[in-house]
Amino acid sequence: MGQETGLRNSMMIPQSCEQAILERFLRAEAMALWAVRAAQLRDVPTHVQAFLKQHEADELDHLKQFETLLGHSSRGREVLPTVPQQWPALAVLLFGYEALGLEFAKLLVGLRPDMQAIVEDEETHVGFFERELHKILAGDTGGAEQARISAKAWWRKLPRTVDRYLQDEPFNSYREEVRRGILDGIRQRFTAAGLLDEPVTE
Ligand SMILES: [Fe+2]
Repeated sequence: MGQETGLRNSMMIPQSCEQAILERFLRAEAMALWAVRAAQLRDVPTHVQAFLKQHEADELDHLKQFETLLGHSSRGREVLPTVPQQWPALAVLLFGYEALGLEFAKLLVGLRPDMQAIVEDEETHVGFFERELHKILAGDTGGAEQARISAKAWWRKLPRTVDRYLQDEPFNSYREEVRRGILDGIRQRFTAAGLLDEPVTE
């Protein structure tokens, strides 16, 4: 479950980025929570529904931790985000989102070793969707094809998402290295899962 390859765990950011990364997490956890809630309204396999319930509880717990640490809440939203209708595409979105969350959680824990439990939860989430995608890719060609197409589209949008996540001023001197590390980590994960062919240039 969610074993790490150990290929790249050395990326570090300095203490001066702590506040910025906590603020980023607060927003990302709020978004994750909404995405997981929206996903539960889709037609997904029963065991996935059960997992999403626990997943929602984990993300809510993370969100509360960040709210407590920062002393304010995230800006709430009133409508659920649009998530794909079809399970293969939805699984890719959640896998990608959790993989991105895990990359940030690894950065966070370098500054806040007390938050290791968040990394472990994210590894569990990533591992679940990774296994689900494995089943989808080994299943009927329609589903497999849909997953691969969704993965390519998601991957193309990722650099812009990461840029937005790293836009705060404290990241200025580290942005390039961190950006590169996150994109490489996710590309390796997507390629190993069979979702992307071979090194794809962004
Ligand atoms: Fe998560």
